[in-house]
Amino acid sequence: VEETYIMIKPDGVQRGLVGEIISRFEKKGFLLKGLKLFQCPKELAEEHYKDLKDKSFYPKLIGYITSGPVVCMAWEGVGVVASARKLIGATNPLQAEPGTIRGDLAVQTGRNVVHGSDSPENGHREIALWFKESELCQWVPAQAPWLME
Ligand code: GTP
Ligand code: MG
Repeated sequence: VEETYIMIKPDGVQRGLVGEIISRFEKKGFLLKGLKLFQCPKELAEEHYKDLKDKSFYPKLIGYITSGPVVCMAWEGVGVVASARKLIGATNPLQAEPGTIRGDLAVQTGRNVVHGSDSPENGHREIALWFKESELCQWVPAQAPWLME
């Protein structure tokens, strides 16, 4: 099954946007499998963003992600990885379309309120990195037959 790791970054938590952001994925119809508020240790932030370690903004990025609690989420659904990226919008919030999370709620790349996995492989990798197996629920929501024929 396809799954994606979505994370509300510390700015989203500090700005009181947790409910608003969760709501967008929930209303769309994806299945929530895991959810927690979490203070990210530096080592985990470094592992999560290891592909960016040669970028000039990398130290700032690690400082940002570890600067306060984040909300970690695992969402499942057909096409969820690409669809979640569409709901989130472009990396630079000034270029993100209105209607997207970043387009509606943020102004700067370094404070872009939310993360979403960029491929199904990274969806699996990141969920395994941020969650213990026991923190994930396999369940069928009552609305399932009203979402998918
Ligand atoms: P994520 O969903 O968070 O992975 O964002 P993304 O996939 O849209 O962008 P990317 O993976 O390329 O970069 C990861 C994160 O690094 C971004 O979301 C930003 O928070 C941060 N970042 C990327 N580019 C810049 C930059 O030029 N300056 C700063 N300050 N941060 C950046
Ligand atoms: Mg990315």
